[in-house]
Amino acid sequence: MNKLKVGVVGAGSISNMHLDAYANNAAVELYAICDVNRERAEEKAGKYGISNVYSDLQAFLANPEIEAVSICTWNHSHAEISIAAIEAGKHVLCEKPLCQTVEQALEVQTAVQRSSKVFQVGFVRRYGNTTQMLRRFIEAGDLGEIYYAKASYLRRLGNPGGWFADKKRSGGGPLIDLGVHAIDICWYLMGKPKVLSVSGNTYSKLGNRANVKHLSYYQAADYDAKHNDVEDLANALIRFENGASLMVDVSFTLHAIKNDGTISIFGTKGGAQVEPELQIATEKHDIMLNLIPQADTLTFDFKSGFQNEIDHFVRCCQGNDVTLSPVEDGVELMKIICAVYESAFTGKEIRFEQDKEALKAAKA
Ligand SMILES: NC(=O)c1ccc[n+]([C@@H]2O[C@H](COP(=O)([O-])OP(=O)(O)OC[C@H]3O[C@@H](n4cnc5c(N)ncnc54)[C@H](O)[C@@H]3O)[C@@H](O)[C@H]2O)c1
Repeated sequence: MNKLKVGVVGAGSISNMHLDAYANNAAVELYAICDVNRERAEEKAGKYGISNVYSDLQAFLANPEIEAVSICTWNHSHAEISIAAIEAGKHVLCEKPLCQTVEQALEVQTAVQRSSKVFQVGFVRRYGNTTQMLRRFIEAGDLGEIYYAKASYLRRLGNPGGWFADKKRSGGGPLIDLGVHAIDICWYLMGKPKVLSVSGNTYSKLGNRANVKHLSYYQAADYDAKHNDVEDLANALIRFENGASLMVDVSFTLHAIKNDGTISIFGTKGGAQVEPELQIATEKHDIMLNLIPQADTLTFDFKSGFQNEIDHFVRCCQGNDVTLSPVEDGVELMKIICAVYESAFTGKEIRFEQDKEALKAAKA
């Protein structure tokens, strides 16, 4: 069987996870790499034995041999590169977030719907082994109706700086970076209900706290302590048309005692803590039980999460599967994220009544 020829755009930190996973997939040939920073592209090409190196995106996309593309660039270029890659006839796996605005998201969706190619959004947490374990319980009805979810990714000190702290390139701070994962994993496990309203707050109170000593954190390659124009905390209450609700808070920095990564969903027959460790709460014979799966890992593991995501993408490109994270889900997430920013800016709840009316009309 012919191998799928893959090209990767953006040769920075997350590209390592994509490149490793493609290199481990026997059905793939890592064929090309592109970065505006040619040195970075060449370094990765050397490491992974990739023979075609580009610093010009148009030339990369014009290569007809490349069948599938991973987009691992900064957020502000996701929409433009996605559309160009789809129009050049490539299958696309685009890192999260899909883009920066709802308008861009809809443009990407239109391009995808016009093409016959696979488009997958990099909602990697959906592909975690613990997520997929929990899906089996949810699909069997063991949790009943899921009516509430709560997600916190709170970093005490963790603004990575560089492009993450540059609103033009990132689109925002912890909300668009960590919040996308937190909201998506809850929304996916809740069965992807349609959003009804969003009320949110963002705060820029603490800056990047580059002054702090004796506590280390991840810094982007282009870290510059002087530049930071993104929020340091965001929170939101999201209501869905089926009556379910989701509470989320995410921070790059906060006067918190420790970092917190907690994701929980709650249903009428059972609940689950997804992170930090998978556990299922339920009731049997009038006794409340906590169920702990006997599994290799009970927490989200990056390596296997990315491997599962990329193996799934490759199967989809071969026509053997349908993507678990389609462009339409990327659009819904952008609607929620942008509504949190808009609500925080205006001080008002954002309602999606028009969508609800359209839904009613479509059902009638
Ligand atoms: N799924 C996850 O858990 C996860 C984790 C980290 C980052 N990400 C996402 O991955 C993306 C990249 O993040 P990163 O941390 O790897 O950033 P990075 O700065 O380490 O790497 C990005 C690379 O893209 C290159 N680039 C930027 N614009 C380009 C363009 N138009 N054409 C070609 N190359 C371009 C840059 O030169 C850089 O080398 C972001 O969208 C981020 O949200 C996802």
